[in-house]
Amino acid sequence: MKTTVLGLVSLLGAATPAMAQDVTDGALQFSRQCTACHVVTTPDGTTLAGRGARTGPNLYGIEDGRIASADFSYGDGLTRLGEAGASWTEQNFVDYLADPNGWVRERLDTRHVRSKMAYRLQDEGQARDIWAYLLSLDE
Ligand code: HEC
Repeated sequence: MKTTVLGLVSLLGAATPAMAQDVTDGALQFSRQCTACHVVTTPDGTTLAGRGARTGPNLYGIEDGRIASADFSYGDGLTRLGEAGASWTEQNFVDYLADPNGWVRERLDTRHVRSKMAYRLQDEGQARDIWAYLLSLDE
């Protein structure tokens, strides 16, 4: 069974994605590709996804949240974007995952920053499904 959050996303006023997103696939892809480094843990300490990995920041509440706002020692690229007040949106997330280094460099218009995330996800459909899954965890 496919669960879509298309209706929810438009209710929230976000841009309507071209394709319906699949939360179930997002959960699967997140556990396959992201939990080696990330957890999703609520402020009261309940872990909703992952197995305690600390290589990357906790991804709880990133939707529309400020970039680099978890308790984590971020690289200079995300830190500077966060300080400038930039937020995660679905499109930022998709573009960042496709090429973390390239994205922070383009955003800051300099080649002298790096992303500390040594992983790329170039399948846009999977990235959008993961975004929908992360959104569903915050309800
Ligand atoms: C090899 C470890 C690793 C994997 C695998 C990985 N990440 Fe990351 N991720 C990181 C690190 C490290 C950072 C911090 C980057 C920095 O500070 O430049 C990060 C940062 C992020 C951020 C920014 C968070 C914030 O607080 O602003 C997002 C979003 C993100 N990762 C999503 C994902 C998703 C989704 C996946 C799976 C498709 C994934 N990551 C897979 C290590 C990883």
